[in-house]
Amino acid sequence: MAWNHSRTGAQTMTSRIPGLRDLSPGERRVAVARAAGLADGALDVLDPAAGLPVEAADHMVENVVGVLGVPVGVATNVVVDGVERLVPMATEEPSVVAAASNAARMARGAGGFRTSTTGPVMIAQIQLVGAVDPEAARARVLEAREELLAAADACDPVLVRFGGGARDVQVRCLPTDAGVQVVVHLLVDVRDAMGANAVNTMAEALAPRVGEIAGARPLLRILSNKADQRLTRARAVFDAGMLGGPQVVADIVQAAAFAAADPYRAATHNKGIMNGITAVVLATGNDTRAVEAGCHSHAARDGRYTALSRFEVDTDGNLVGTLEVPLAVGLVGGATRAHPVARAAVGLLGVRTSGELAAVVASVGLAQNLAALRALAAEGIQRGHMTLHARTVAASAGATPAEVGAVAARIVAERAISVERAGEVLAELRGELRGTA
Ligand code: MEV
Repeated sequence: MAWNHSRTGAQTMTSRIPGLRDLSPGERRVAVARAAGLADGALDVLDPAAGLPVEAADHMVENVVGVLGVPVGVATNVVVDGVERLVPMATEEPSVVAAASNAARMARGAGGFRTSTTGPVMIAQIQLVGAVDPEAARARVLEAREELLAAADACDPVLVRFGGGARDVQVRCLPTDAGVQVVVHLLVDVRDAMGANAVNTMAEALAPRVGEIAGARPLLRILSNKADQRLTRARAVFDAGMLGGPQVVADIVQAAAFAAADPYRAATHNKGIMNGITAVVLATGNDTRAVEAGCHSHAARDGRYTALSRFEVDTDGNLVGTLEVPLAVGLVGGATRAHPVARAAVGLLGVRTSGELAAVVASVGLAQNLAALRALAAEGIQRGHMTLHARTVAASAGATPAEVGAVAARIVAERAISVERAGEVLAELRGELRGTA
């Protein structure tokens, strides 16, 4: 098994691709591949006709009857830690990809997104029930720390060879409705894996010995999705002028403060962040539910659910956004390796480690959040949604990719977004073109 992913192709030269929107999906695949320094056909597998074969799906889950197509768009303008990234995003929601690209553009002037991480450390939990002397049991397990770390490492020599392995043992006495339980945490550096398999294997292997030492019965042995030892932080400075001026900046700060103070607003604010995070996590074949569970548990880490991001004004009057989220994402194992589209998505991103992937994911989450706040504070969310919706309506009325923009603009201006009106506008446009031919 390979744990390191050195990229074979060239690096992405630029994540700015003017006119991408006006191309057909096939033409966009070539344009994006070229900008990423990949072969023209590198993204062909994203064509639904070439994607996940039902035979492959049949090996992934049970009782397979087919596969579900989800649109994959590419966010442009994204710079993370000085590296240009073209970011694949799988989402059914209109506006998300455009909004991320737009927000990323506003961060480019100040260098894009900067990130930091705690490193890829996951937690496995071993629950012990029926301890007669829980405090003493806790002490005995901690005294056996070195033995337990060595036993955990022995479960996964490949991980250890690649620089990962067990790092620490922590033990708590937990008062519960069913009496005091002793809970053992095994902290494991999982390197480029998501880590569930590695830590679950270790927890199961260690549990009998841990139970013997504690004098208690091991029960659950499973990772925690509250991955707070695997945090990624993103920060970006968004240009005040591009945002719409000082009043918009001030209003975004007010909007973010609302989310920080109120769980009702925080849930929606964080949903906007997850629009970006989940789309990249899904496109790269990672476990969206694990990441979502981790992010929401982090939002409630102090006992009250709050916003995952914060926004401030810097000394130049620009807007600074920061986001901290647990991100259990990997590059090896699971669908990231088994799914051809996920493999192509990782290839397009050009990330070499799970940490680099997490840095992009967090950055897109922050970009998405800023875009939503700007739209809400400046003009309301419906205008952007309607413009995109109008493009879909224009296409449904038979407009070609070259005609969609003009038809959509007309029906938005007329506030008449219907397939019927789009058909009439299209007929008029074609008539005008014939007249001028
Ligand atoms: C919609 O998918 C996401 C938003 O509701 C996020 C937000 O309100 O911040 C627009």
